[in-house]
Amino acid sequence: MSPNAAGIVERTLVLLKPDAVARGLAGQILARFETVGLKIVALKMVMPTRDFVARHYPNTPEWIAGMGKKTLETYKDRGLDPIAEVGTTDPMKIGEMVKAWNIDYLSSGPVVAVIFEGLHAITTVRKLCGATMPFSADPGSIRGSYSSTSAVVGNATKRAVRNLVHASSTPEEVAHETAHWFGTEKPCVYRRADEDVLA
Ligand code: CDP
Ligand code: MG
Repeated sequence: MSPNAAGIVERTLVLLKPDAVARGLAGQILARFETVGLKIVALKMVMPTRDFVARHYPNTPEWIAGMGKKTLETYKDRGLDPIAEVGTTDPMKIGEMVKAWNIDYLSSGPVVAVIFEGLHAITTVRKLCGATMPFSADPGSIRGSYSSTSAVVGNATKRAVRNLVHASSTPEEVAHETAHWFGTEKPCVYRRADEDVLA
């Protein structure tokens, strides 16, 4: 890779959530990232405990309220009454529900945890994943290609939205999540054959 690329080579954490593994989509989803030029530098399959997945997410008030707002946006978009659907209009209360459903979801089966490395990896991986709600994710994105679910069906049946993948969204999330899933294990250092062409 050219020396100019040094400052923009990032690492990021991806999880193939239990629905992606159960649907036999692990290989296809990994290929989406690899094809863009992102390099797998660490990978493992884990059957995580509830306690472990509870500590995966940021769990900040902003993140919790943000999830609640995504539910409210979906309901507004579909003309649904949040009180009828989830019993409240408070994004914090809805976010707390989603947080609990996420623990059920992520601990419901094996998860594949991956660290990718590459140019603008954090943004590129988020772009490839698509929007949180598969029904509003771009058609070519991973979430938009393999699902069309939303908070309407997910949250209203007391489940998290099964959207196949997780990806860190900030350098702070990368630091926390890579340490959480891989501890002190060091990512592999190697060159991909196409690195010079991609840069
Ligand atoms: O995963 P992403 O960063 O796009 O979204 P998030 O706001 O960090 O939410 C984490 C996960 O919670 C999502 O990927 C969904 O699986 C789930 N979620 C949900 O079930 N219902 C919501 N209203 C918001 C999030
Ligand atoms: Mg997130």
